[in-house]
Amino acid sequence: MTDSLNQILGDLATHLEHELDEGARVVPMDRDVVIALTEPVTSTPVVAAPAPAPVAAAPPPEKVAPLPPSDTPGSGGLAELVSQVAACQKCKLCETRTKTVPGQGSATPEIMFVGEAPGHDEDQQGLAFVGKAGQLLTKMIEAMGYTREEIFIGNVLKCRPPNNRTPSPKEMETCLPYLREQIRILQPKVIISLGATALKGLVDVDGGITRLRGKWLSFEGIDLMPTYHPAYLLRSPEFKKDTWEDLQMVLRHLGREIPEVKKRGE
Ligand code: URA
Repeated sequence: MTDSLNQILGDLATHLEHELDEGARVVPMDRDVVIALTEPVTSTPVVAAPAPAPVAAAPPPEKVAPLPPSDTPGSGGLAELVSQVAACQKCKLCETRTKTVPGQGSATPEIMFVGEAPGHDEDQQGLAFVGKAGQLLTKMIEAMGYTREEIFIGNVLKCRPPNNRTPSPKEMETCLPYLREQIRILQPKVIISLGATALKGLVDVDGGITRLRGKWLSFEGIDLMPTYHPAYLLRSPEFKKDTWEDLQMVLRHLGREIPEVKKRGE
């Protein structure tokens, strides 16, 4: 009982810290959540999310053609890793997932985007960033002059946390070796981490995303640019400008031309 309660309080604290890191100063409250928090805890810990999760509501599936991993089975380590992830039972998320989401894209990407964890659509399709946040990520990628096929998109967690709650530190620690191995195989020139949780999963740094975005960091010798998560940008579009500045820093770093930003409707 105490363990379950501690787990809930820990998850609540992690979630609120995540919201703070993402710049939220007001957390919408829901009476059902308060009731759920005061109800007796059952033997299976149910994690009550205190605020609507960014991508929790089942959005209409994105009109983006599913991208299989560019490497075909037998072509090397990536395919092997996809099989390992598919069979993984290292944490309890394997009990609630529909599909594992190893990530997809080019096997020789200049840029690798790293998000937090699959949401509802990703869990259904087995593909990273295919929901509403994924649509915005596609726009960000195209604004940079790339297609989704030319880069790689992955997550710190390969399975969806129930109710899209924030991954626990333990889950991130358990799943991180897969991401580490992907990065070792893919050798992107730049990693772009999306949001506070992805950044925390990759580097042990003090400070939230608001302070660290737009500043070059390093993950195992690979240049890392932290920026906001597209789900956060959907809720707070005023930060899109900062995000575009971060993405331009990446383009300059790679010696790429900065495409003109198309006005709406063009
Ligand atoms: N949010 C993430 O962090 N990753 C996804 O794949 C989808 C939404």
